[in-house]
Amino acid sequence: AFSSSEELVLVDRRSSGIAVLTLNRPKALNALSDSLMRALAEKLQQVDADAALKAAVVTGTGKAFAAGADIKEMNSRSSYSDVRHDNMLAHWSAVSSIRKPIVAAVGGFALGGGCELAMSCDIIIASQAAKFGQPEIKLGTIPGVGGTQRLIRAIGKSKAMELVLTGEMLSAEEAEKAGLVSRVVPVGTELDAAVAVAEKIAGFSTPVAQLAKECVNASQEMSLAEGLRFERHLFHATWGLEDRKEGFEAFVAKRSPEWKHR
Ligand code: CAA
Repeated sequence: AFSSSEELVLVDRRSSGIAVLTLNRPKALNALSDSLMRALAEKLQQVDADAALKAAVVTGTGKAFAAGADIKEMNSRSSYSDVRHDNMLAHWSAVSSIRKPIVAAVGGFALGGGCELAMSCDIIIASQAAKFGQPEIKLGTIPGVGGTQRLIRAIGKSKAMELVLTGEMLSAEEAEKAGLVSRVVPVGTELDAAVAVAEKIAGFSTPVAQLAKECVNASQEMSLAEGLRFERHLFHATWGLEDRKEGFEAFVAKRSPEWKHR
């Protein structure tokens, strides 16, 4: 058995209803190896399945959120047919099928797969020391887990294209201005800020938060007309929840709602 310090992803399950997942390969700047990403997916799936948990925070260590997919590990695959056969990085999509909200706390490098992982989370809180980029072009490859797709939706074509084609990094301030991150906070406070956001979300109805997340994410995949229709269906669907009734009745009675999470 591994001691906790050897775990690739540390889990801090808090009584406030959230779990903090810490990527833990600091010596490799949290390079996202297959085993690390499998551990992260498994732990996020456990959060999803755990009724006592309402949201998660994903963070890194030291100077890196994550400096990308593991270059040395990927380099051990030598041909197109190898990576095709293994469907390299396909298992990363597990992160985007988590239904509970995930807040990324980025305190340092979020490069390549690290930037893509942060973008797979729902909200990014960055410290002033955070740096974002898609440097794959410097390695003779291109982003493989959303860097050409989620980034353009986050910051628009010209900026996304510049990052992907030059490999240059965005500072935290630039990332905030571009809309990639929701907020920049002083160095060392990003985890607390992300935890506070996750705890705020955890204070609401879990099924409602999940419907809201699903709806916002649907906007990335649908036309406006389809998205509006999808939203209206899920909005109406909240009338099937005890929590919708509780929230409205509490407002009318001027009291705090007591969510049943159903
Ligand atoms: N994979 C494997 N190992 C990595 C790594 C990565 N992505 N990033 C850093 N490391 C390792 C380094 O090899 C080094 O290991 P050793 O001590 O064994 O030599 C250790 O982490 C520390 O890194 P540096 O000495 O390089 O640290 P630095 O402070 O001088 O530089 C850095 C920091 C600029 C982030 C630099 O490490 C770097 O450029 N890393 C690679 C960034 C990158 O190209 N990411 C994209 C990967 S490809 C990808 O992610 C594809 C995709 O779309 C999924």
